[in-house]
Amino acid sequence: LEERKAGTEEPTTSAIDEYKQPFVIGVAGGSASGKTAVCDMIIQQLHDQRVVLVNQDSFYHNLTEEELKRVQEYNFDHPEAFDTERLVSVLDKLKHSQAVDIPKYDFKGYKNNVFPARRVNPADVIILEGILVFHDPRVRALMNMKIFVDTDADVRLARRIKRDTADNARNIEAVLDQYSKFVKPAFDDFILPTKKYADIIIPRGGDNHVAIDLIVQHIRTKLGQHDLCKIYPNLYVIQSTFQI
Ligand code: C5P
Repeated sequence: LEERKAGTEEPTTSAIDEYKQPFVIGVAGGSASGKTAVCDMIIQQLHDQRVVLVNQDSFYHNLTEEELKRVQEYNFDHPEAFDTERLVSVLDKLKHSQAVDIPKYDFKGYKNNVFPARRVNPADVIILEGILVFHDPRVRALMNMKIFVDTDADVRLARRIKRDTADNARNIEAVLDQYSKFVKPAFDDFILPTKKYADIIIPRGGDNHVAIDLIVQHIRTKLGQHDLCKIYPNLYVIQSTFQI
């Protein structure tokens, strides 16, 4: 925190507020690239912190009757498929340590109003995961760290076929049709171009333990929680003061 009141050693209110705000991590990448695995591993390693995971899937628009009738023609991989206004508002509230209700999404029923909504309380770390979380500049601006999970297209397709046929009970022709019509073109047109915003690019997703360890180390440094501070909690305050 470099920001100070001009001519004094006092940090400004905004600098203090910024320091107190949760650390927001964005995890983007193609469908079935291993984003969830990366998030799960980060969460596991940060077991002593309050961490919440928010999925961009929760912000899918509900489909109209017409769209539902012709769901095979609906593009779930286009940025406009998401209610980004709502995502910005939810993320902004969480960033300011306010509790929020996040809709639950039903992949099979194509609905995002599964009751009850998920109540998310303020946390130290917020992870936002989804194919297009780097697409909107307002969402990017709320992030402290941006991770892009980079996995080969054939691996992603193979995982997607397995997942959609097993978990979502779809038939393989429909999965392949959706992939060539929407998933692949949207990856090339909208998802891949957001890779340039990433601070860190992880090859091979959740298999990359070294990358995850480095990321977690960085988050811990940012949270100002070195081991010594955990053993002597009072030192935490002293160290924070020095950081300001
Ligand atoms: O978990 P993942 O990042 O793969 O989720 C995003 C994918 O979910 C998109 O590629 C989209 O095609 C797919 N999707 C779907 N059916 C829905 C909603 C999203 O196949 N009802």
